[in-house]
Amino acid sequence: MPLLQWNQSLPLGHVEIGGQHRLLVEAINDLHDRMQEETEHQGLLKALHGLKTYANYHFSNAERLMLRHGFPELENHRPAHMEFRERMDACSATIHHSDSHTTAVEILSFLMRWLARHIQRDDKAFIDFVNHR
Ligand SMILES: [Fe+2]
Repeated sequence: MPLLQWNQSLPLGHVEIGGQHRLLVEAINDLHDRMQEETEHQGLLKALHGLKTYANYHFSNAERLMLRHGFPELENHRPAHMEFRERMDACSATIHHSDSHTTAVEILSFLMRWLARHIQRDDKAFIDFVNHR
């Protein structure tokens, strides 16, 4: 049973960004499944690798779109993307010295906050900006 269902509570209104946010929901569900099935470092590293790949693609794509549309909040938005990447890197770097289940719980709560704050507030602001020009 997935932790999250893709639903209307995530900002739609932009096909490309909406599709990428859907991939993040899948990555969160993947991490959650791994926590149920295995708490091995290897499984968690795979989930982290997936999240980093996602972040590299999605953030550069979103920032390019913001630049192209002249979104005035781009420079305020960028540090959050940096923080996401740093957080995933820090977890990968320390994972072998920490308890994998505790790390997985920390990452999961970071991602849930990310969905609630960053995606539903900051990314939505950009989508609204594009749609109301
Ligand atoms: Fe963003």
